[in-house]
Amino acid sequence: MADRVPYVAGNWKMNGDRASAAKLAREVAQGLAGLAEGSVEVGVFPPFVHLQTVAAALSGAAGGTRVRLGGQDVYTQASGAFTGEVSAAMLRDVGCVSVLIGHSERRHVIGESDELIAAKLKAALAGGLSAVLCVGETLEERRAGRTDEVNERQVRSALAGVPAESLERVTIAYEPVWAIGTGVTASPADAQDAHAKIRAVVRAVAGAERARAMRIQYGGSVKADNARELFAQPDIDGGLIGGASLKAGEFLEIVRAGAARSA
Ligand code: PGA
Repeated sequence: MADRVPYVAGNWKMNGDRASAAKLAREVAQGLAGLAEGSVEVGVFPPFVHLQTVAAALSGAAGGTRVRLGGQDVYTQASGAFTGEVSAAMLRDVGCVSVLIGHSERRHVIGESDELIAAKLKAALAGGLSAVLCVGETLEERRAGRTDEVNERQVRSALAGVPAESLERVTIAYEPVWAIGTGVTASPADAQDAHAKIRAVVRAVAGAERARAMRIQYGGSVKADNARELFAQPDIDGGLIGGASLKAGEFLEIVRAGAARSA
């Protein structure tokens, strides 16, 4: 646990306009002053149309270089007749270093399959991006006792065939679907259990060293007042934050909870 730097990222989803996105980015960047270098990694994932605005806001703000910018999705192909889609190269061109892959809203609202998600992960990595691979069970699956099976299937199908040297650019976010945006969080013990099992899957797929190094974020109704307890668990390496990442003050509290773990 000690050598994994916690990673706290804000998934802004489909929220905000240019002005509010720039303001939020500036406030987050400025709020990082005073946090020890290397104590926590911070990222933001704004809507595509705000990426350039946020990149500019970050480059003009003290602390801006400490914020990793990412897209919320990417397409499998590099260019061509794919109306509405965005490639890894396009994301890099506007300043992104990372991308979310397989977020639960992409899986369950938009209907993305494991196969498409696996192809997107490979395209992101081949295109030079880091990726946050999101996995997690629905309420129905949890009630049926299928949590571990679902997580294992989602992790295995996405990581299959990823070149070993690219795996260091992958973070996994465990986000139980029933906890996203609901105000209900997994208990720290349940989350830890799921994280440990996901790490065991990574071990089986990619070996012990890679599994030890891989960061596994928790996501699903993380707030300033529950982050510390969650991040204190040995296999929880920070969080992917939705609603609470839209308020700089609360997001920064959660970032500090991540930094506190590595202190
Ligand atoms: P939430 O969203 O923090 O609003 O529950 C988390 C996510 O979807 O990444």
